[in-house]
This record gives sequence, C-alpha cells and structure tokens, in this order.
Amino acid sequence: MLQTIPSIQDFKQKIRSFKYNHLTIGFVPTMGALHEGHLSLVRQAKREHNKVVVSIFVNPLQFGVNEDFQKYPRTFERDCELLSKEGVDIVFCPDREEMYPPGFCTAVIINNLEDKLCGKSRPGHFRGVAVAVLKLLNLAQPDNAYFGQKDFQQTVVIKRLVSDLHLDVRIKALPTVRTEEGLALSSRNTYLSELEKKDALCLYKALVKARSMADSGIINVKKVIQEMENIICGYASATIDYISIVNAETLESVTSIEKGDVAVLAVRIGKTRLIDNMLL
Ligand code: PAJ
Repeated sequence: MLQTIPSIQDFKQKIRSFKYNHLTIGFVPTMGALHEGHLSLVRQAKREHNKVVVSIFVNPLQFGVNEDFQKYPRTFERDCELLSKEGVDIVFCPDREEMYPPGFCTAVIINNLEDKLCGKSRPGHFRGVAVAVLKLLNLAQPDNAYFGQKDFQQTVVIKRLVSDLHLDVRIKALPTVRTEEGLALSSRNTYLSELEKKDALCLYKALVKARSMADSGIINVKKVIQEMENIICGYASATIDYISIVNAETLESVTSIEKGDVAVLAVRIGKTRLIDNMLL
C-alpha cells in the first residue's frame, strides 16, 4: 500500500523502521508531473530493492527568478495513482516551509561543474539541485538512488557530490525515455503546442546526426556542431541556447570526438527551454 508522508519527522521514523528490519531502499527523487521517464526509474528501483521511496518536491531553489516555478505542472493525485500501480511504498512530499524554514542558509557549491552548459543560462540552478538532493539523500538513506541520463549534467553533478562527500549511496543513471519519434519525455513538454511538439524533434534529430557523423569517423567537433546547428535552424520556433560536445566526467568541451564523449544541447522551442543529450 502506497503511503504518502509529508512530515520530515514521520519520514525519518519510517526509514529507521526499514533499516531496523534490514530492508533495502531504492530512492527516486522527482518534482512530480510524472511520466514514463520517471516510471522507468521507479521500475528499476523496484526490481532492485525491498522498498521503493519516491520524493515529490518542486524545489524552489533550483528555479531562477524568471523561470517557471509558479507554473511548473503539479499533478499530485495522478502521480500517486501512477506510483501506487507501480507498487511504490512511500511518497515523500515535504512542504517548502519544512524543507527550507526561515533562517535556512546552507549552500552546496559544485565548483567547475555548476557553471558550465545549463549552469550558464541558469545561474544557481545546480546549487539548488545539489542542496535539495543532498537533503533528500540524507533523509531517505537509500542503498541506490536513480536519476535519468536525460538531465546529463545533473547526473554528473550528483555523482561528484556523492563521491566528494563520501555519501553512502550508489547513484544509478538510466537511459532517456523518448516518444516513438524521439522526443525526450519531460514534464515541461506539457507547455508545448502541437506544432511546437513537432519542432521539438529537432533536438533528437541533431543528436542523431552527431552520432551518425561520429560513427562514420568524423571527429572534428566544429563540423559536427555546424551540422547540428543547420538542422535546428530549419525549425521556425527553435532558438539554440547551447550545443556542445563534452567529456562525460569533466563536462569540458572537446575539439575532437573520442568514444564516450557526450553531445549535449539546450534549445528553446517558443518559450519552452528543452535539453537533451546523446552518448557518442
Ligand atoms: P524531475 O525533472 O522531476 O526528474 C526526476 C528524475 O527523472 C531525474 O533524475 C530526471 O533525469 C529523470 N527523468 C526525467 N525525464 C526523463 C526521461 N525522459 N527519461 C528518463 N529519466 C527522466 O530532475 C529533477 O526532477 C530534479 O532536479 C530533482 C533531481 C528531483 C531535484 O529537485
């Protein structure tokens, strides 16, 4: 039976009882508005643990002042129905006031990784992610925590955080779930009109192009990025935020492609900023 727990105190107590009974815990942190991408993480957690905990918390600290915190989709009841069907044990849904009470002032800074790529156009975003995820991991005490490759930079930041702070949890990064046509599932896709949804396929098309060029031996990054730009510029509603090919651990841009590098991009489709990436 799915149990929803808003109180931090009650949640800690529940986790203590799991630990006391030697039950393993798989944890999936989310901001809700769940889709098949989230559920793929939940299913993997379920396969690998006795108990599965999902958090639903729209974390204000990771939204910039002009971003979509207010209008971010909130579908709590539907989310709980989906999670209940998946056999999830606990939904932890703390409120903002308890997560960040007056006087809260601790920050988590991930030097070198937080200012690159998405961090450039979303200053402070990864600090906000890092502090929330650190708190959630500390509360949930999971054996494994599951993240999506879709948010590639986020997985790199979290792995670094866990390793630098010697946290006792394994981070698992799972493949991006896409529509049949290739659009990466995202809670923000709900902002797109039907026409924009078609244009949004340009991210995937550009990434597939990059991979096929790399596969055919073209390792000159300038050439590859030029082709990616050409594809995206063919779509009226698309504006490029960044396109880069990076080392998968340092997130440094590379000039010639090596196996294991990752093509990453952020593109605005109308007013909606979408991100995607592909391993080369
Ligand atoms: P949210 O955007 O809700 O995503 C929760 C998890 O689902 C993240 O690990 C994300 O990478 C994964 N995910 C999203 N779309 C996916 C897809 N199409 N395929 C596979 N996995 C996908 O990411 C966050 O929330 C927040 O930043 C959070 C980590 C909860 C911290 O607040």
